[in-house]
Amino acid sequence: MNRKDRKGRKERLSHPGIRPPMTVTPDQSNHPNGSAAVRIVDLHRHYQMGETLIRAVDGVSLQVRAGEFVALLGSSGSGKSSLLNLIAGLDRPTSGAVIVEDRDLAALSREELAKHRLRTVGMVFQSFNLVSRMTLAENVELPLRFAEVDRGQRDALARKALEGVGLGARLTHRPSELSGGEQQRAALARALINQPKLLLADEPTGNLDSHTGTEIMNFIREFNQSLGMTIVMVTHERALAERYAGRMIFLADGKLTDDRTNSTAVTVNLQKDQR
Ligand SMILES: Nc1ncnc2c1ncn2[C@@H]1O[C@H](COP(=O)(O)OP(=O)(O)OP(=O)(O)O)[C@@H](O)[C@H]1O
Ligand SMILES: [Mg+2]
Repeated sequence: MNRKDRKGRKERLSHPGIRPPMTVTPDQSNHPNGSAAVRIVDLHRHYQMGETLIRAVDGVSLQVRAGEFVALLGSSGSGKSSLLNLIAGLDRPTSGAVIVEDRDLAALSREELAKHRLRTVGMVFQSFNLVSRMTLAENVELPLRFAEVDRGQRDALARKALEGVGLGARLTHRPSELSGGEQQRAALARALINQPKLLLADEPTGNLDSHTGTEIMNFIREFNQSLGMTIVMVTHERALAERYAGRMIFLADGKLTDDRTNSTAVTVNLQKDQR
């Protein structure tokens, strides 16, 4: 199976391949206030491939504070997507703990995990992952359908979300009738429609030209700055991380190799949101 298929499957809300919960008692000694949006404690995700053990995530510990904009950097195969998928609750660790908004994901049932993915986390992928036979409005309202929001409300919320990313005139288009940037904006609208506290983005600009990529990044920055949404974004592009993220975390061979504050990130003046 290629990586895209794997990611596509993983995005489904009721992930069929998830294993039963495994309880890990997190070490809370370093985190007295418990206010972190994400806490990762000695996290491992290993894959046994025949004779070979792949340590995709190999002993990572870190904390992300609420409202931070973090870029996860590292070369191909360094474990960025694996780590992000564990935070999203799309995958279970081999060992270690992932605590999001003070909930230990290992302690959640399959249904509770589905709710976590629906309500707490919004996710955006490199390949957009829109449902091709559905219109944009239907794609965007999908999470609301899972959340059993009633139909009248769903339409209005989906329209508003699409208007928010400049796609108010594309409600009845199907993904194939849109540019790459428009598809990614729609994927953003879908990720945000349930107002998640945490946006996880895996190479959100990877398939876009630099102008369109900048547009997407500006939207993400605006959610971060005006709504205080916590962002964890995977990217290969150091320059992009330096421009947008307040913190850069580097991975190599599944290990955290560097974690630094980035003072060069540009903040924008969001006048309309200042009271
Ligand atoms: N389901 C899986 N089964 C076996 N090995 C896997 C699986 N998923 C990932 N891996 C391996 O784990 C390692 C980390 O993969 P991951 O997708 O996290 O890398 P990445 O940093 O996101 O890379 P890229 O920048 O290319 O997307 C790789 O060596 C990959 O081959
Ligand atoms: Mg990846």
